Amino acid sequence: MTGEAICKELEKLRETGSSFETIVSSAVQRLHESHPKFHWTGIYELFPDDVLRLGPFIGAPTDHVFIAVGQGVCGTAVAERRNINVPDVTKVSNYLACSTSTKSELVVLIRQADRIFAQIDIDSHEIGAFDLEAVAKVERVADWLAREYARRQTAATAAAGLRP
Ligand code: SME
Repeated sequence: MTGEAICKELEKLRETGSSFETIVSSAVQRLHESHPKFHWTGIYELFPDDVLRLGPFIGAPTDHVFIAVGQGVCGTAVAERRNINVPDVTKVSNYLACSTSTKSELVVLIRQADRIFAQIDIDSHEIGAFDLEAVAKVERVADWLAREYARRQTAATAAAGLRP
């Protein structure tokens, strides 16, 4: 399934009234099933205390449920405000091992300009699993999800009677 096709399915869920949680979990599931080299696929959400918290994921359970900004590949992506594609995790000094089978990792931020909401983290058992096509697919879904996160944040801010 292409990134475009995944986003169409997510749009359908949204239009038919699915919850935010259902939409995000479906994005994880569809992405995971869309590529034979995606062996662990999950979302980490960024909280105001500068800690990433594990959201929905598919794959082996991980000890890294909380990751501080700046730690590991996931935390570095937020600290440096950029997506990170690691072709060989043994070459990264601050890599946090989720599973000994992981050989490469991709982190794509879910963001709108300066606002980082969350990230998609994908591990593969193969070295260099994330080619341009795979990265573009994940980026497409991350961009779609960013709109949902922004909507949710706007709604929460309005409900609290605060200015965005
Ligand atoms: N490898 C990540 C930690 C998350 S697990 O891979 C699921 C990192 O270095 O931040």
